[in-house]
Amino acid sequence: MVPKHVAIIMDGNGRWAKARLLGKAAGHRAGAQALRKLATEAEKIGVKFLTVYAFSTENWKRPQDEIDSLMNLLRDYIQQYIDDSKKNEMRISTIGDLSKLEPDLREKIRDLESMTLAKKGMRVIIALNYGGRDDIVRAARKAALAVASGKLGSNGLTEESFGQFLDTSDVPDPDLLIRTSGEMRMSNFLLWQTAYSEMYFTKKLWPDFNISDLNDAIEQYRSRDRRFGARKD
Ligand code: IPE
Ligand code: IPE
Ligand code: MG
Repeated sequence: MVPKHVAIIMDGNGRWAKARLLGKAAGHRAGAQALRKLATEAEKIGVKFLTVYAFSTENWKRPQDEIDSLMNLLRDYIQQYIDDSKKNEMRISTIGDLSKLEPDLREKIRDLESMTLAKKGMRVIIALNYGGRDDIVRAARKAALAVASGKLGSNGLTEESFGQFLDTSDVPDPDLLIRTSGEMRMSNFLLWQTAYSEMYFTKKLWPDFNISDLNDAIEQYRSRDRRFGARKD
């Protein structure tokens, strides 16, 4: 079975650029291209949800010129996705705290989200200024408000109801989590949501990751025995 929801930590753009004596911006551009191509192919093989880590709450610690080039790249790509949306069925949405992004960029993202809202194809979820801890803390704040206002009894706070306050409230948990570039850590990605996701790590750098790599990951996923803590025999 093809995993319904694939989440990807797209890492290695910097190293990809360095190996070619290029600047970081060129690496990120190649990474953005790789995503655009892979999304189309992932949809063809039957993936229903694709969540990608594009910018973390910690990535603000990078040099300002790299942040600027990432944000500009995002501007270009959002425009491309807006153009693409006239001919494809992908629904694009975001998770993360967009309030820290420039207002024009935020507005473009909101346009893209509303333009593709009714699309029936694969859902692409772009994590922007996303942190797993930040997601949980923002959800906890919303839950506290709901309890304080009497909308939710404190006993009504369960794993299910809490999940409704997370950015991913309308998305099933990822079945498969992929990280490229050889690092084996979560780097504050979907901490709550990956409680039972299958993990797949590859040394391939993100701009080089293609559909055959995704198929390899899926093949390995298929061979895993997902027990969710239960006994199967
Ligand atoms: C991932 O590539 C993209 C972002 C974090 C935005 P990196 O830029 O982290 O690439 P490396 O880890 O330096 O190779
Ligand atoms: C994770 O990669 C964030 C994204 C891919 C957007 P990083 O490159 O920022 O993570 P660390 O610093 O290696 O943990
Ligand atoms: Mg990195």
